[in-house]
Amino acid sequence: MKRKVLSALLSVAMVATMLVGCGSSSQPAAAPADTAASAEEAQAADAAPAEEEAQTADAAADGDLIVVGYAQVGAESDWRTANTESFKTTFTEENGYQLIFDDAQQKQENQIKAIRSFIQQEVDYIVVAPVVETGWETVLEEAKEAGIPVILSDRMMDVSDESLYTCWVGGNFEKEGQDAAKWLADKLEADGRGDEEINIVTLQGTIGASAQVGRTEGFGSGMKDNWNMLAMQTGEFTQSKGQEVMESFLKQYDDIDVVVCENDNMAFGAVDAIKAAGKTCGPEGDIIIISFDAVSAAFDSMIAGDINASFECNPLHGPRVAEIIQKLEAGEEVDKIQYVDEAYFDTTMDLKKIQSERLY
Ligand code: AHR
Repeated sequence: MKRKVLSALLSVAMVATMLVGCGSSSQPAAAPADTAASAEEAQAADAAPAEEEAQTADAAADGDLIVVGYAQVGAESDWRTANTESFKTTFTEENGYQLIFDDAQQKQENQIKAIRSFIQQEVDYIVVAPVVETGWETVLEEAKEAGIPVILSDRMMDVSDESLYTCWVGGNFEKEGQDAAKWLADKLEADGRGDEEINIVTLQGTIGASAQVGRTEGFGSGMKDNWNMLAMQTGEFTQSKGQEVMESFLKQYDDIDVVVCENDNMAFGAVDAIKAAGKTCGPEGDIIIISFDAVSAAFDSMIAGDINASFECNPLHGPRVAEIIQKLEAGEEVDKIQYVDEAYFDTTMDLKKIQSERLY
């Protein structure tokens, strides 16, 4: 191991401030719209007092840095960019860390290689945002054998032995999907369309990613008898693929009422495809667009009248993982499953004001 020195680099108070909004129970927290501030607060406190800064500089100079390897999914979406930024701005030398960052380009085999490389480099902690849920046992066994704790962030792993990872922190994807279905039911009812036959298509995320699995299952569980799911196909969480799949849906079906996009970037692609096909969408259009993530560009799109609603998935996990590491360094217990509070936003809200208060 490179080091195992705990320097109290991030004061507990600082981290606690950064972590407002991070639930610590095994139960998903309620997510009313006005809890959105939690996302912003999570990263708001990166101004350490001068004394603390001096301490961290000393620690860095002494080589007493906590070495963290982060196996990131890729750079497929605005959400992912915000997530990477959150890690890079949290795990700095000034804060007492050395971050080894790997972009797996959405490929599980690349993430497995990155984890093996982190093991070889004897990092202190491995953080993984797994591309998909399954297929991790072997490499996690290797990390366990090397005595390196593995922290999961964002997406979940489905492993037979839960002791293979220390803990997980992220959004409740299934609840996001359930909330989206409930929102749609309420909207249709309010529009007097509660009993109408409603045709839906879904642009799914990367198949097998917990963000895809949870949102698909969550929305599916809220489907009404008079809703028809015409088709579901992956758009791999990217704008270009989302557009491509939507173009093909529009060619196959001329009576789509709702598009469920399992992230904002695919929604942007879907909007482009709908407009190119001469159709309309959004609150004043013919097709309702539901999305997930609630990144800043989705607010622009809702304000422009293209997307109806976006269900938040909070990407600011850097400070949350830092808090977990600090607790582990202090020999404290950490909750195995840590859900983050999340909200939703739609065009009935004061989106400009909300957007101006958000960090991503
Ligand atoms: O795992 C989180 C999902 O991954 C986000 O919804 C999406 O934008 C990203 O690619």
